[in-house]
Amino acid sequence: MDYEPHARERMGENAWAYISTGTADERTLRANREAFERLRLQGRVMTDMSGAHTRLTLFGDSFEHPIFLAPVAFHRLVHPDGELATAFGASAIRAGMVVSTSASVPIEQIARQATSPLWFQLYLQYDRIFTQSLVTRAEQAGYRALVLTVDAPVTLRNREQRAGFGLPPGVEAVNLQGMIPPPPPRAEPHESEVFRGLLAGAATWKDIAWLRSITRLPLLLKGIMSPADAARAIAEGVDGIIVSNHGGRALDTAPASIEALPRIAEVVAGRVPILMDGGIRRGSDVLKALALGAKAVLIGRPYIYGLAVGGPVGVAHVVKILRTELEIAMTLTGCANLEAIDRSVIWE
Ligand code: FNR
Repeated sequence: MDYEPHARERMGENAWAYISTGTADERTLRANREAFERLRLQGRVMTDMSGAHTRLTLFGDSFEHPIFLAPVAFHRLVHPDGELATAFGASAIRAGMVVSTSASVPIEQIARQATSPLWFQLYLQYDRIFTQSLVTRAEQAGYRALVLTVDAPVTLRNREQRAGFGLPPGVEAVNLQGMIPPPPPRAEPHESEVFRGLLAGAATWKDIAWLRSITRLPLLLKGIMSPADAARAIAEGVDGIIVSNHGGRALDTAPASIEALPRIAEVVAGRVPILMDGGIRRGSDVLKALALGAKAVLIGRPYIYGLAVGGPVGVAHVVKILRTELEIAMTLTGCANLEAIDRSVIWE
């Protein structure tokens, strides 16, 4: 959190309006923090911590710690090297990185820069042929998993809108160049602009089977907040679930993702790995998420603020701080590895 005010100074009002905002009244954005603050930890003493570590394995890759970089669009908004700088920093601190469909650098270049595993976040495009070519490009560039984000087919961020946010010249979704754009909403004045226009191309459950047919990559769904949707996702054969409310940028007044996590973990019952994001700002938050059923977590704004302030070094430093805090929290709750973190660390 210490990076946030410094980032705000360096970013300028336009980028700040895009990155810091949530939808509507930002109740979910705030809830993500408040829910972590409400949770208390049960300390334990004198645990033998010899050989302690934070390693884990996901989809065949091993990671030294469970802190991933969430997909965030347009890193060049805050740093001239954009996602290349992020990938450099992520690799230095060995963090898995999820690259957004709306990245501002070609995904192949990012892959050449990275030495730690990359996952590709997919937004289904109206142009399904183009979508398929994007998936193939990610696969060929060596991305290790596909993250289909499903929680934000439409959103409206009023604070960003009021600030008049626009992408500055030279910052764009370069990986989407050349696709057939969705038809402009052609609703009559009395018809719904949302249903008749903005939803063109949005993902539905039948797209899972289609994605399965075009790629062998492990498939995760990002943006699951409902136990019923989690059950459906597993029935459709997904390989992983990311509990997320898009950092408060999708459905406003939805609960914090850390509040939704235990119910989803109960339904999933260990059949596929669960990750979570939204409001992680301390290593103790990582511990809480793992205690409530996540195998790993993702951070969004914190590393973007690190990137804005210090480029690759800032990204690496933010992860380093969280990782150190996680190790301290593990020590003080008596957990020598991630498997040892369970419900009993939460003060009930
Ligand atoms: C996002 N997020 C996001 N998610 C996604 O799947 N694709 C994307 O392109 C983006 N873009 C994006 C831009 C910005 C500016 C933000 C803040 C977020 C959501 C992101 O992956 C993640 O779910 C949240 O950022 C997690 O919450 P915190 O860590 O920011 O509180």
